Amino acid sequence: MKFFVDTASLEQITEARDLGILDGVTTNPSLMAKEGIVGQENILAHYVKICELVDGDVSAEVISTDYEGIVKEGEHLAQLAPNIVVKVPMIEAGIKAISHFSRNGIRTNCTLVFSAGQAILAAKAGATYLSPFIGRVDDITWPGMQLIADIAEIYAIQGFETEILAASVRNALHIVDAAKNGADVVTCPLSAMLGLLKHPLTDIGLAKFLADHKKANG
Ligand code: E4P
Repeated sequence: MKFFVDTASLEQITEARDLGILDGVTTNPSLMAKEGIVGQENILAHYVKICELVDGDVSAEVISTDYEGIVKEGEHLAQLAPNIVVKVPMIEAGIKAISHFSRNGIRTNCTLVFSAGQAILAAKAGATYLSPFIGRVDDITWPGMQLIADIAEIYAIQGFETEILAASVRNALHIVDAAKNGADVVTCPLSAMLGLLKHPLTDIGLAKFLADHKKANG
């Protein structure tokens, strides 16, 4: 399973990259705004900086919601760097644009996916990645992880090549469950990634090893 970090923060991307386990980055307009990146020129320049920091895929989301606009914006984003993946919303114009990008060698991430039916449509259109939003489904008390399991089952049966990118991942348990349920990629905040490290027995065990070493060696 690949690990993407879900942020537009250059500091967090660098920290995740330096762990040596980072395969890519996802961003969205909310994450860009959170970092204070505003204005088209600044946004494009920020994507270039992210792409220079990591070798893996970097999802850059379009703002347009009409077919012509999505295509124009996506083609421009794709030219910024070879590792850009154009992030397109799960709407009718988005599916049409994903089909166009797929036919023209531009890789895509179909975002805002909340059902298995939407997942089938995105795969048929040739999306490179599919982003089901686990946390937001959990937020309305539906089982978000079941969505990953259902899509993984359908994609395996049908032989779809679109990679399942578990998104809206909020904690370390989400990461483990996404892995169990067949996600190809998980994108999450750095805090969730670092949450995987934590176990009290590790801390207790390390403290005892160090104490024993000190007692024996002074
Ligand atoms: C990533 O591609 C998504 O935009 C992101 O994971 C959404 O996460 P959120 O539901 O925590 O905002």
